Amino acid sequence: MHIPIFGNGDIDSPQKAIEYKNRYGVDGIMIGRAAIGNPWIFNEIKKYIRNGEVPDGPDIAERVRVTKKHLDFSVRWKETDLYF
Ligand SMILES: Cc1cc2nc3c(=O)[nH]c(=O)nc-3n(C[C@H](O)[C@H](O)[C@H](O)COP(=O)(O)O)c2cc1C
Repeated sequence: MHIPIFGNGDIDSPQKAIEYKNRYGVDGIMIGRAAIGNPWIFNEIKKYIRNGEVPDGPDIAERVRVTKKHLDFSVRWKETDLYF
């Protein structure tokens, strides 16, 4: 039987994700605070695993697009008519 072990705590960059995974031999890692305001970190880590490169962060247009989407979901989730 194999019980997967996931680690987390203070992982805030692609480099740390790999370093921690290799150091502790876990099956996976979880990201908490570093994803707050930066949902791109998951793709950045995936790309870093694939080719060892840290991609450029999102440009302003991408940040605005995702912020609007987040606001839209948030308004719908709270079921309010407030919308602008
Ligand atoms: C605002 C906030 C809320 C959290 N709520 C929970 C929770 O409800 N249950 C839980 O097990 N851990 C909770 N945690 C702990 C996180 O799941 C995580 O273990 C911790 O933040 C360390 O990981 P990180 O350094 O990637 O943030 C919370 C952390 C934060 C910052």
